[in-house]
Amino acid sequence: MYIQSILIPCVALFLLDFVCADTIQQTRFMVTKGHKLSQGTQLKRINSTNISLALCASICTSECGSATFSVRHKTCITFRDKFYNFSMIWTQDPDWLVLFRDEAIQYGGWTLVFRAQNHINVSMYHTWTNNGQHDDNPLTSSSLNGCYRLDNLGGCKKHFRSSILDSWTAVKKVKLSVYVNGSEVNYIEFQGASTSRETWFKQALISNSSWSNIMTDSSVNYFSLQGYAQGGHARRFIIFGGHGTCSLETTYFLAVDQASDDCLENWKVPAGSYPIFIASRAKGMIQISLRDYALADVMAVFVKF
Ligand SMILES: *[C@@H]1O[C@H](CO)[C@@H](O)[C@H](O)[C@H]1NC(C)=O
Ligand SMILES: *[C@@H]1O[C@H](CO)[C@@H](O)[C@H](O)[C@H]1NC(C)=O
Ligand SMILES: *[C@@H]1O[C@H](CO)[C@@H](O)[C@H](O)[C@H]1NC(C)=O
Ligand SMILES: *[C@@H]1O[C@H](CO)[C@@H](O)[C@H](O)[C@H]1NC(C)=O
Ligand SMILES: *[C@@H]1O[C@H](CO)[C@@H](O)[C@H](O)[C@H]1NC(C)=O
Ligand SMILES: *[C@@H]1O[C@H](CO)[C@@H](O)[C@H](O)[C@H]1NC(C)=O
Repeated sequence: MYIQSILIPCVALFLLDFVCADTIQQTRFMVTKGHKLSQGTQLKRINSTNISLALCASICTSECGSATFSVRHKTCITFRDKFYNFSMIWTQDPDWLVLFRDEAIQYGGWTLVFRAQNHINVSMYHTWTNNGQHDDNPLTSSSLNGCYRLDNLGGCKKHFRSSILDSWTAVKKVKLSVYVNGSEVNYIEFQGASTSRETWFKQALISNSSWSNIMTDSSVNYFSLQGYAQGGHARRFIIFGGHGTCSLETTYFLAVDQASDDCLENWKVPAGSYPIFIASRAKGMIQISLRDYALADVMAVFVKF
């Protein structure tokens, strides 16, 4: 559901609180019912019989990232933070709704184009490659609290996929990050100019990484988004040394993208639910069977234009 903010002359919302049209820009907001936002940095709190949803949207001006409103409690609260900021707490509450702008999800200048959730039994590679799933055009209001955030709040049952994946133009940089409990444990930045959705994931295009030697590491033999998907394997986004014997396989990163892989037992990685994101905790590649890895809950891809 959408709400258009209204252009109003000066309105008394509360004894000492006036809102005037010259400070208001008309914007379209998305509305999700049944949730209340709290915490974050509060800008305004208005409890007045005069408050309406449209008025609440109108006082959420440029410095405001999100708002929460209740007809029953006649209250509007605006926040500096976007609804996906980690500081925002979502509570289910039938009396309240959440207002936010329909715009790209951004973290520090990077636009989120893909967010894969571990263990949901949906192929992240197929979600990546199949055109058409656009979770940001408009932002879908289901699982809002889980699937746009990079901390693992729970409740996210789908991979977030941006419409940008189907119109990969003017991309300057690409970043792949993996998260454990909301902390970025590793990242790799790539030069994105003249790449496509399938061609940016190359060792030669790396411009920065938490793995300090990865750019020049000549023991990397397989650096591939399509990965290794033969003989009962579905390993995607792989950065591998050699393969053939489970106990000797080395990696910086891989996503196991189906329920089984004949090495999981040897690697002591719990099987069954997928995808599984395995990231080296060392400075360089690890022999996976020695278990110096992080099992990440989220893998995200961002772009800069
Ligand atoms: C509601 O708006 C009217 C008209 O602008 C104003 O006279 C009244 O004081 C407002 N009520 C409250 C509680 O702010
Ligand atoms: C708003 O004010 C009314 C009356 O003063 C009060 O009953 C209600 O609890 C307030 N709501 C909130 C959310 O503070
Ligand atoms: C949340 O908002 C704060 C303050 O605006 C900002 O510094 C921080 O980077 C944001 N965090 C996320 C995850 O967006
Ligand atoms: C994924 O599949 C495994 C094995 O069938 C099952 O145990 C698990 O509950 C499933 N997880 C989800 C989120 O469906
Ligand atoms: C993530 O957080 C949960 C809940 O706070 C905790 O039980 C779990 O051990 C944490 N996982 C890691 C890898 O830190
Ligand atoms: C790589 O990133 C780190 C931390 O984000 C930064 O300090 C460093 O300057 C970057 N290096 C390059 C070559 O961009």
